[in-house]
Amino acid sequence: MIVAAKSPVIVPSLLAGDLARLGDQLDEVKAAGCAWVSVDVMDGHFVPNLSFGPDFVRLAKKKGFYIDTHLMVTNPLDVAPWFVEAGSDIVTLHIEVVTDAAAALKQLRLMGTKAGLAVKPKTPVDGLIKQLEHCDLALVMTVEPGFGGQKFMADMMPKIAALRAAIDAKNLDCWIQVDGGVNAVNIHQAAAAGADSLVAGSAVFAAKDPAAAFRELELKARAAFKTQ
Ligand code: DX5
Repeated sequence: MIVAAKSPVIVPSLLAGDLARLGDQLDEVKAAGCAWVSVDVMDGHFVPNLSFGPDFVRLAKKKGFYIDTHLMVTNPLDVAPWFVEAGSDIVTLHIEVVTDAAAALKQLRLMGTKAGLAVKPKTPVDGLIKQLEHCDLALVMTVEPGFGGQKFMADMMPKIAALRAAIDAKNLDCWIQVDGGVNAVNIHQAAAAGADSLVAGSAVFAAKDPAAAFRELELKARAAFKTQ
């Protein structure tokens, strides 16, 4: 089991994987030391795209990865059991689609998975901070969710810093995850702000050498990480 790290973890996102050879690409990043991958689930309602079902979690689980499943869907508690059964270690839902976030997060934990809560770029971080004791992961989107390969939104960094301060003040065991447009040029910003779980799709899987790209991101993030 992975708990909140004292140094950041790079989390490749399958969304950017080459579906014709996703298994090989997962083997490549695993050989480079990758232990955790992210599976983006999109329903065509919450975001204008469709993506993966539980079978992709099964594929990653068979390869021995720790998996977080990011539910960009309007009915996360309906679909979450399918992804828990498939092997998700953390299931993340969006604060924008629940009326009672604490109850939703408790329901996820009762399903036997760790619980994550995400905010889109236009959603203030205060609501997420209020729920931290119910969270194992707090996700700040640094792109508008729905597609990989977008530009990193550096103006989201104050949200990370606010989460880092709140988690450190209460000594909570909660990951701070950033997702969207993270690459070797900007990763120091998120790590310096205090993020310890950095999702990278295109920066890893669209690279000529995904394993080398993974290692470079890890080195840069660890060099910049804001320690407590
Ligand atoms: C957006 C997705 C992407 C993806 C990462 O909804 O969540 O952020 O995981 O893709 P890149 O790293 O290519 O932005």
